[in-house]
Amino acid sequence: PFGDRVSLVVFGASGDLAKKKTFPALFGLFREGQLPSTVQIVGYARSNLSDEEFKDRIRPNLKLRNADKSKIDEFLSLCSYMHGPYDEDSGYVELLDKCVAYEKKHNVAVPERLFYLALPPSAFATVCRFLKKHLNSESGLKTRVIVEKPFGRDLQTFRELQENLSPLFTEDELYRIDHYLGKEMVKNLLVLRFGNEFLGAAWNKNHIKSIQISFKEAFGTQGRGGYFDTIGIIRDVMQNHMLQVFTLLTMERPVSFDPEAVRDEKVKVLKAVEPIDPKDVLLGQYSASEDGKEPGYLDDDTVNKDSKCFTYAAFALHIHNERWEGVPIVLRAGKALDESKVEIRIQFKPVAKGMFKEIQRNELVIRIQPDEAIYMKINSKIPGISTETSLTDLDLTYSKRYSDDFWIPEAYEALIRDCYLGNHSNFVRDDELDISWKLFTPFLEALEAADGPKPELYSYGSKGPKGLREFLASHGYVFSDEGTYQWPLTTPN
Ligand code: BG6
Repeated sequence: PFGDRVSLVVFGASGDLAKKKTFPALFGLFREGQLPSTVQIVGYARSNLSDEEFKDRIRPNLKLRNADKSKIDEFLSLCSYMHGPYDEDSGYVELLDKCVAYEKKHNVAVPERLFYLALPPSAFATVCRFLKKHLNSESGLKTRVIVEKPFGRDLQTFRELQENLSPLFTEDELYRIDHYLGKEMVKNLLVLRFGNEFLGAAWNKNHIKSIQISFKEAFGTQGRGGYFDTIGIIRDVMQNHMLQVFTLLTMERPVSFDPEAVRDEKVKVLKAVEPIDPKDVLLGQYSASEDGKEPGYLDDDTVNKDSKCFTYAAFALHIHNERWEGVPIVLRAGKALDESKVEIRIQFKPVAKGMFKEIQRNELVIRIQPDEAIYMKINSKIPGISTETSLTDLDLTYSKRYSDDFWIPEAYEALIRDCYLGNHSNFVRDDELDISWKLFTPFLEALEAADGPKPELYSYGSKGPKGLREFLASHGYVFSDEGTYQWPLTTPN
């Protein structure tokens, strides 16, 4: 792990990501005593801002939780701002002076420097080149570099990026963030699967009928249309965030929690995935809401007027191995839907009939957000004189089970802490990306070809394209009888 005297430099410090995620996360760690109060934090960007202007920008997003207001001032006193170019020596020379001055002042024998690149990918390679030249040229330094997605837009662009970065920083020095890996429930997946005999025993094709990983957002592209239009929902959240959830759900048991042991297993399961069928997909783009209050995707001025960009997609992954042969794993994601929710649904096979005329399937639901919860739908006898069965649940809802005293770190907090500790488990390895782009590139090319499919329109705030139920049914999912089962449970009349 890094020690108490670290220079932490955030590039792109005047941008949105730094303001909304990086600095609030650094503050959160500081507030919880997880970041030493002796580090120096330098914000670096091109905008010419004074230290005070910079601090005024980041202050509104710092959340106190139970802490005293003075914590914010304490934190801000560790921070300073520097403006400079990304593609010239001058700024880096100044930055080096700043790091060296701090290290000298505190008699640091082995400098430890953490660079957080909250930058668009087009700037990664340039910034890394200058960093290597000026701030990482001596031997014996300890350097860590955090980079953010997107890591390319297909196999070729990912490999180009990799070719630019790998001669500069080793895989050990690079921390590729996929912030879904920092979410509490995602971090819990391996414990749930491998720490529970009854779940582990049933976690295979013999007992599971179908799996869904579902990502829903109740808002549209909100001013990010121009960016989103070149990306689409599949690159935005599916090839990365949802695929990470997929690998953790389906990989084999690693020998330990060692980062390489975990990541080796992820790569293995990805290699066993069949090419994705571009004909078996459900694609959508949102139009204005029914009441006309919310805009359609194409109403965004920054979006191409005849764009066929997908804001909704659903497709199945099939794994050819002993554990999963024949079990469809549906990934579905959409913007501008009726609710914001990310969850996993594992539906089990029906039990033998015989003694039961009608009996519903078990389903394990793991809700990643909002309000973390794990619940298992189970059949149970209706209490009292009735002999009928009904579907009810074993429920672990975090807000009911754990008091507010539990600090559940935000994803970025958890990941920056991991990087500080030198733990790579929850970061994405290069070969993982290579294999995932191998899987997604031909699929995306087929969908985005000039004669490729057009998205079906769905209105803002709706459940998405009309064919969803049918699509899920065609992949083995059976909806519970809504007449008898409800979540969350209401008091029976
Ligand atoms: C980002 C996507 O990576 O993840 C966004 O670019 C998306 O479009 C976001 O909204 C979702 O993250 P979270 O943590 O809000 O679920």
